[in-house]
Amino acid sequence: METSSAPGKVYLFGEHAVVYGEPAVPCAIQRRATVSVEERADERIRVEADDLSLDGFTVTYGEDPDEADVDVPGALVEAATGYVDGAVEQAREAGGAPDAGFNVEISSEIPLGAGLGSSAAVVVAGIDAATRELGVELSAEELAERAYRVEHDVQEGQASRADTFCSAVGGAVRVEGDDCRRVRDVPELPFVVGYDGGAGDTGELVAGVRARRDRYGFAADTVSAIGDLVRQGTRALRDEDIAQVGELMDFNHGLLSALGVSSRSLEAMVWAARDAGATGAKLTGAGGGGCIVALDETTSTRHALEYTPGCEAAFRAELDPEGVRRV
Ligand code: MEV
Repeated sequence: METSSAPGKVYLFGEHAVVYGEPAVPCAIQRRATVSVEERADERIRVEADDLSLDGFTVTYGEDPDEADVDVPGALVEAATGYVDGAVEQAREAGGAPDAGFNVEISSEIPLGAGLGSSAAVVVAGIDAATRELGVELSAEELAERAYRVEHDVQEGQASRADTFCSAVGGAVRVEGDDCRRVRDVPELPFVVGYDGGAGDTGELVAGVRARRDRYGFAADTVSAIGDLVRQGTRALRDEDIAQVGELMDFNHGLLSALGVSSRSLEAMVWAARDAGATGAKLTGAGGGGCIVALDETTSTRHALEYTPGCEAAFRAELDPEGVRRV
């Protein structure tokens, strides 16, 4: 049996716009998905997944996701099983073992579908563990590429490389189309995450932005404006100008909100963070529900979030310099 873990992430800037070739800066955080894989004697795949949310719900399914014993929306389970199936397919291809069967066990500290990159982390860790089980070692870059293909398929061609690259290599990264690289020497980023206990449907949210962008020139301009903001934000990051990084996070949130991907609970958490003195606050990931990320080196934002109606959990999240690793 082989076990690997990979980190989740927050978006400092640039989600959604990155799907259209604009730059984005996701940052890996010290919350991981862990996947154990054992080859079976037959061709079947059995997946067991526990604790896919902070408060822990359980998803257990065999071959048929419809028969999953689960207390989360069916669409999320279907997406989760799609990611695992995709990871297995990639491992079979990389390992030259098209008929290999596996027992897969997943545990995760990253809430599912909440904007913290749970699916990318599961796919990256899953491909790494399954290929090693087949006796093949892939580089972080190759894992990122294969994990991207899985996300691309599950999200019906509407995925960027941001989540998967960030989870595979760790740290802060900058992704612009196919150009993915680590951002070196980032200053201390005191992330605070607020989680509303919910989740958005990434495929649907990405499709919604695409529809608005196709329909309205000003929505397309909003997507380009996020790209400009990310370029400015990358400079602010290099200059260690945290005040400006925060200001641009606030701006980025406003543009995402204009594109229709915020929600009442995300707004409540963003404003609670700002009122508590956070340097900046925005939704992270696809939106529609899930998580916000704020910058605050004090405990004020976390405490304020804990008392915000609609916020189910709030926690400090340290940047994780390490990507996928063997456990
Ligand atoms: C989802 O975590 C981030 C999006 O930008 C989609 C993607 O980049 O694949 C909304």
